[in-house]
Amino acid sequence: MLNIAIDGPSGAGKSTISKMLAKKLGIIYLDTGAMYRAVALYVSRKGVDVNDREKVIPLLDEIQIEFRGDGDEKKIYLNGEDVSAAIREHAVSKMASDVSKIKEVRLFLVEQQRAIAKKNDVVLDGRDITSFVLPDSKYKFFLTATPEERAKRRYEELKAKGSQISYETILADVNDRDYNDTHRDFAPLVQTDDAVFIDSTNLSTDEVIEVILRYVNTH
Ligand code: DC
Repeated sequence: MLNIAIDGPSGAGKSTISKMLAKKLGIIYLDTGAMYRAVALYVSRKGVDVNDREKVIPLLDEIQIEFRGDGDEKKIYLNGEDVSAAIREHAVSKMASDVSKIKEVRLFLVEQQRAIAKKNDVVLDGRDITSFVLPDSKYKFFLTATPEERAKRRYEELKAKGSQISYETILADVNDRDYNDTHRDFAPLVQTDDAVFIDSTNLSTDEVIEVILRYVNTH
């Protein structure tokens, strides 16, 4: 199976790139961050603190995550409910980062991600795909940009949606999540030696896709 693994910090453009890349290649896209977000949403709706592992772990048995629909229209369902919009709310980002520190949460989702990758040609993006989910994948990329550039992109995206959140707040959140995602004990975000490093600070989306496609077509 063709498995393309893309890791990097939040706001590096991974999901936009992965979605477009999958479309160009005619294969599926698996947004693993959306899965952590769905778990965080479920836990918070239950009134449980996402950091409380003793209470979070038993809830995993109650969670069923599915992706339905084709291409760009793919939606994520949590126990049959379309939560595609709810998981994108600002508060869910930090909760997802927090809940993802729990080893059992990671193993619960990683098992599903590996099963999908085994049966499908897929582009997967996340934090631990190159290092832990699919370490033997032939195509591994680490996509990043400066924290300021990533915060600027997120700020402009949220502003266009009518949000009032300041650039400074977003930059602080980006730094906070970077710290969280790179410092957790189990399967933290790391740049593996065999991943192709791409700094997108001064690259357009099309340029990044070109770099990835060129690599995939020549290896
Ligand atoms: O990519 P995202 O911003 O939607 O991810 C939300 C959080 O989920 C992120 O801060 C860390 C966690 N995550 C993870 O730990 N491992 C992944 N493979 C994907 C996301």
